[in-house]
Amino acid sequence: MPEVLLIALVFALAAATVGWLFMTEASYLGSGAVRRFYDFCSRFYDASKGRLAAYRFSPEEDRRWLLPPLLPAIEREPHCRVLDVATGSGRLPLLLLGQPGFLGSIVGLDLSEGMLRVAREKLGAWVQSGRVALIKQDASYLPFEDEAFDVVSSTESWEFFPHPEKALGEMARVLKPGGVLLLTKQRDSWALWMYGRSFTRKRVAAMLEQADFTGITIVDWQRRYDLAWGTKAGMPAPGPSEPPGPWDSVRCPACQSQLLSSGQGLTCSQCRGEYPIRQGILYLA
Ligand SMILES: C[S@@+](CC[C@H](N)C(=O)[O-])C[C@H]1O[C@@H](n2cnc3c(N)ncnc32)[C@H](O)[C@@H]1O
Repeated sequence: MPEVLLIALVFALAAATVGWLFMTEASYLGSGAVRRFYDFCSRFYDASKGRLAAYRFSPEEDRRWLLPPLLPAIEREPHCRVLDVATGSGRLPLLLLGQPGFLGSIVGLDLSEGMLRVAREKLGAWVQSGRVALIKQDASYLPFEDEAFDVVSSTESWEFFPHPEKALGEMARVLKPGGVLLLTKQRDSWALWMYGRSFTRKRVAAMLEQADFTGITIVDWQRRYDLAWGTKAGMPAPGPSEPPGPWDSVRCPACQSQLLSSGQGLTCSQCRGEYPIRQGILYLA
């Protein structure tokens, strides 16, 4: 009998550990584990979002919730540039490109090649036309020049980055004054499950204030997430008269210098580091 109890206990502990790893998306095990987790999940990510009632993808709901905070920045600048950090299977790019008034371009950055491949399949025509650029890179360092984007977004991802606070600083750095940051944060009740990674509303509002954001708003969104947004203080500079190229403002992740087109990829103008572009995805990491 004690053996049966012991085996049951071991099974229960193993099941709880696996459940917790899934819930925290392997984030406590480091970026490599998160990348492998998402490379594996990419095969069924969209399908699972179609089925699980709590986390279901709904284009109507996304239009209703995610678009309004972004509209002022998008409408102000015809060649508006959007950076979607941890773009996954391309949810936010698809939402924006589906808006008749949206004429801008989008950079979708993610750590997982599997997720980027799914995004590329869905965004193929826009990737080919240069309106969408897909980049494989860790969100801890955003390889772009300062103040390069009118909008920076990151949905259902922030807590899984290795250093969420550092990533927030990076998102603020690459945003233009007057630009909008749209972020999701896990509900305060999840703070216990994601200890050290999930922040309360009060804390997120303070972080945004410290990063010089104004008009900070945090509202209930999904069962697991709140939606937070704010505008970076300062006057927006006039935008470019021509639509920017897909790799404009991308910087070398090793030395932050400009990257130049070369054959099937980009080469650093200083350290000569080479970064391949394969099937529309730029591999920086
Ligand atoms: C739950 S998905 C969300 C995807 C998309 N933003 C959405 O709302 O559907 C989380 C995404 O974050 C990405 N991710 C996790 N850690 C990352 C990191 N350190 N850098 C870049 N992407 C990361 C994963 O690869 C995955 O695609």
